[in-house]
Amino acid sequence: MTLWSGRFDTAPDPAAFEFQVSFGFDRALFEDDVTGSLAWAEALGAAGVLSKQDGAAIRKGLEEILEEGRRDAAFIAGPDEDVHSFIERKLVEKIGEAGKRLHTGRSRNEQVSLDLRLYMRRRIPLLQDALKRVVAACADQAEHAGDTLMPSYTHMRRAQPVLVAHFFLAHASALRRDVDRLEGARQEADALPLGSGAIAGTSYPIDTAALATRLGFSRVVRNSIDASSDRDFVASFLFATSLAMVHLSRVAEDLIIFTGEEHGYFELSDATATGSSMMPQKKNPDALELARGKSGRAIGRLAGWLVTMKGLPSGYNKDLQEDKEAVFDAEHTLAISLSAAHAVISRLSLNPEKASRAASGLLLATDVADYLAIRGMPFRQAHEIVGAMVRRLLADGRDFGSLTLKEWKEASDFFGDDAPQAATPLESVHAKRTPQSTNPDAVQAALKECRQWLNLKPQIPNP
Ligand code: ARG
Repeated sequence: MTLWSGRFDTAPDPAAFEFQVSFGFDRALFEDDVTGSLAWAEALGAAGVLSKQDGAAIRKGLEEILEEGRRDAAFIAGPDEDVHSFIERKLVEKIGEAGKRLHTGRSRNEQVSLDLRLYMRRRIPLLQDALKRVVAACADQAEHAGDTLMPSYTHMRRAQPVLVAHFFLAHASALRRDVDRLEGARQEADALPLGSGAIAGTSYPIDTAALATRLGFSRVVRNSIDASSDRDFVASFLFATSLAMVHLSRVAEDLIIFTGEEHGYFELSDATATGSSMMPQKKNPDALELARGKSGRAIGRLAGWLVTMKGLPSGYNKDLQEDKEAVFDAEHTLAISLSAAHAVISRLSLNPEKASRAASGLLLATDVADYLAIRGMPFRQAHEIVGAMVRRLLADGRDFGSLTLKEWKEASDFFGDDAPQAATPLESVHAKRTPQSTNPDAVQAALKECRQWLNLKPQIPNP
């Protein structure tokens, strides 16, 4: 029995019916649907549409249903078309006639939008907390690394020495933007769609502003036609989750490279690595690879959803039902990837010798050129001179550290007696002057600021 069988004279074809059933996945909206219905019943009561007795019976029935569903997830099951039909059936089974009055003036079109908005409002903070845990793990790594240096890369070629802490705080910065971006999606979802009816609005005098306040929304949607098919908040959520996955993928890529034999700046904990069935020596970064791989899945959900939305005429269309699996899958993908990333990063160990050894050598060339420019030589000319020095050093298999004072001065008379000491990795980082740079004082301040940000909102719950 469906909510709409009255109009039809044959039973639905099983294949066609099953195809459009959504209860298998929209049962995740159980809590939200009950929350919405409790508020709707109150609003109907306040509008004089529901009698006090019916209102009270509906409240009691819905509260019992909520409790049963919370107690036992297996309760949320049945032959129903969707979670809305399920709850209505249970309500009528419990309280009879009065249960049939709940849907007065309301459409599933607005109901499902409401449910998903409520769902996102309560679930996004969990993702934000999980992101913060990864940021905190990066901050811890930054702190443990102290003043250890490593090379930074451009074009995947050694560029300039940086603090290991600077590297971790770089990834933390990207993940912090994801927390904000998810907040944006949450704010988009923060509008009450009830009162829109199926498309044209409702004919009952519902106080939508009061209903919005009752449900904790900061505003009411602007237009009922728009509201019945607006899933922009879904697209924004899928974009936010995709970009967070892209960021995790990039952390993963860095760590896959830097924990490999060729670099070895970091070592994966045995607890977060995997072995090979054939090659006994292998210590594989499967968790990182999967986080990288799953970014494709998240992006696929976003792209798929945009394609679903693009051809829709105004008003509700069943295509919109595809929103839920996209949201649930993207949410789950990000959540499990974040906990894996947290496990890997928090257990990662630094190999200071390898990291700092790789941070010395010809990657000091920019600092050598800066030395000349600071002493008055035009930078282009300095670049030219140092380029020639690099070319000779490469040919001889040497680096700046092996140059004698005489050789420095032969290269340019701008080089003073302090030139050999100036061209060291440590000098290089200390020479940086801006707050966003790898200067050790700047990195200390950045770490402090990151810690303050982490403490801004309620403490992150333990895993
Ligand atoms: N399961 C539907 C969805 O997810 C609920 C809304 C159904 N509305 C309708 N007119 N069939 O979009």
